[in-house]
Amino acid sequence: LSCRTVRTVDEARSFLEGRRADGARVGVVPTMGALHEGHLALVREAKRLSDEVVVTIFVNPTQFGPGEDYERYPRDLAADTQLATSAGATLIFAPTVAEMYPPGEQTRVVVEGFSQGMCGSSRPGHFVGVATVVTKLFHIVGPGKYFFGQKDYQQWRLIERMARDLAFPVQVIGCATVREEDGLAMSSRNAYLEPNDRARAAQIPRALQSVIDAFRDGERDSDVLRTMVEEVLKGDFSIDYVETRHPETWEVVSGVFEPPLLLGVAARLPGARLIDNVVLSSNTSDVVEEPR
Ligand code: PAF
Repeated sequence: LSCRTVRTVDEARSFLEGRRADGARVGVVPTMGALHEGHLALVREAKRLSDEVVVTIFVNPTQFGPGEDYERYPRDLAADTQLATSAGATLIFAPTVAEMYPPGEQTRVVVEGFSQGMCGSSRPGHFVGVATVVTKLFHIVGPGKYFFGQKDYQQWRLIERMARDLAFPVQVIGCATVREEDGLAMSSRNAYLEPNDRARAAQIPRALQSVIDAFRDGERDSDVLRTMVEEVLKGDFSIDYVETRHPETWEVVSGVFEPPLLLGVAARLPGARLIDNVVLSSNTSDVVEEPR
């Protein structure tokens, strides 16, 4: 297995221009490193649909707020390169901060609707940082299929909208959330949790599973569903939000709803802030395996 690593915009561009000239289809998985099975599922999907599989690794400072985990975010390029390569990556683009934010830079990208509510409210400025860095990646890495995890549902929708609004020559593909055995959505931040809190974290997918069960039993009041989640989490977690929205129009939903309905949650344990979501529709799948 061989995988090339490039650290500059010029190197990434000239290599990928060459590959495209040879007819290669390019698939891209943008990440901040600390790769886990969720990322690797994206890399494998990219591999299935492309010839050149680019994994970008960049801990993007502009999407972290003051007091968040930018400094302590795990960074291990050698381990990430090995994992990405074993899943099929053929190019790692791992730029420095100065390469992505040249001295004197002063440009930001704002996506209005999808940055409202949920993580947009609890992490002010976060989605400006995400939209800005992803715009740069689109321009540097160029045309192709870009893969994002649906664990970050709001991020995926926002990027999809931005790509359409700004006519980027890219296809944005959302992939299903990959979960641990107990249902916890995989996240690089799970590693911050002490063993006790790691066990408690599984209450999030269990709460979502009870929402799915209630929905299947005919519950169509979104207030009831949100309350179910709040009741489960309020003991051990500090809840940032439990919100229900229409997954495509992004309108807030309260009271009785017609599917599809997005229910998103963000809640904190001592070591980490965790997010998860479920979209309720006729083909919703379970998030926790039986028995529960
Ligand atoms: O989801 C992430 O890892 C990041 O938000 C992304 C999309 C790589 C932008 O920095």
